[in-house]
Amino acid sequence: MNNFLKKLKKIMPAYIEPKFFNDKELLSWNQEQGKKYSESIIQKNKATKIQRILGRSGIRELYKNCSFENYKINHEGHKTVLCAARRYAENFKNNISSFIFSGRPGTGKNHLASAIGNYLILRGNNILIITVADLMSTLKSTFNQSSSKITEEKLLYNFSTVDLLIIDEIGMQTESRYEKMIINQIIDRRSSSQKPTGILSNLNHKKLNSLLGERVLDRMSLGNSLWLTFEWESYRKNVQINQR
Ligand SMILES: Nc1ncnc2c1ncn2[C@@H]1O[C@H](COP(=O)(O)OP(=O)(O)OP(=O)(O)O)[C@@H](O)[C@H]1O
Ligand SMILES: [Mg+2]
Repeated sequence: MNNFLKKLKKIMPAYIEPKFFNDKELLSWNQEQGKKYSESIIQKNKATKIQRILGRSGIRELYKNCSFENYKINHEGHKTVLCAARRYAENFKNNISSFIFSGRPGTGKNHLASAIGNYLILRGNNILIITVADLMSTLKSTFNQSSSKITEEKLLYNFSTVDLLIIDEIGMQTESRYEKMIINQIIDRRSSSQKPTGILSNLNHKKLNSLLGERVLDRMSLGNSLWLTFEWESYRKNVQINQR
């Protein structure tokens, strides 16, 4: 311990432990803080970029307040999906696992996907939940090069590099060949750079497989991937009662 620290220790109350014992420790703490700060700036820039492109943040207004805490448990099915979604969010760091939430309308797929998103945003990740229709219209808006500020390639790059991309309403409309190719490309790029993707759909395994193809589903199953089925009654009527 250097002299300065020794003097300081004399005047400090006994219960206070110095955080650093020498210059080296102080320097390495400073470097660590600098690294954390620059990482947080990079994350913020990515989130702002998405916000600018889509004119909104990563999670739509309706789902901003969705959390694990306000997902009600009325039966075993609710409990299973809630626990699995919470575990997914808690283990997200350094994880490459994707997830698929499939099942009936109004059962809470978006609620839990947004709960995962909100949990991760609070911890500095950038998240985007986007419907296939919005994804395609954003991409198509780049076709008119003269008025578009961003190219299709740049947009695809942005979709491929967010920490978690959740593609919603897959199978709602009949996807065209172009749409299937784009979804395929995004999932392919994301899995090769070890970025997880979430899929929300009303389609079951068989139908999703025939829509997206085995190649895409195979990429979605990297690591400890999560496939949850939401096969119970819609919760939407309860939401209306509560809001009256
Ligand atoms: N178990 C639950 N506890 C509290 N709210 C719930 C629960 N399940 C669903 N909700 C609420 O019900 C509404 C509909 O849920 P959500 O949008 O997540 O359904 P979904 O499965 O995505 O349906 P769709 O397939 O039609 O898109 C939302 O407002 C959501 O917050
Ligand atoms: Mg939904």
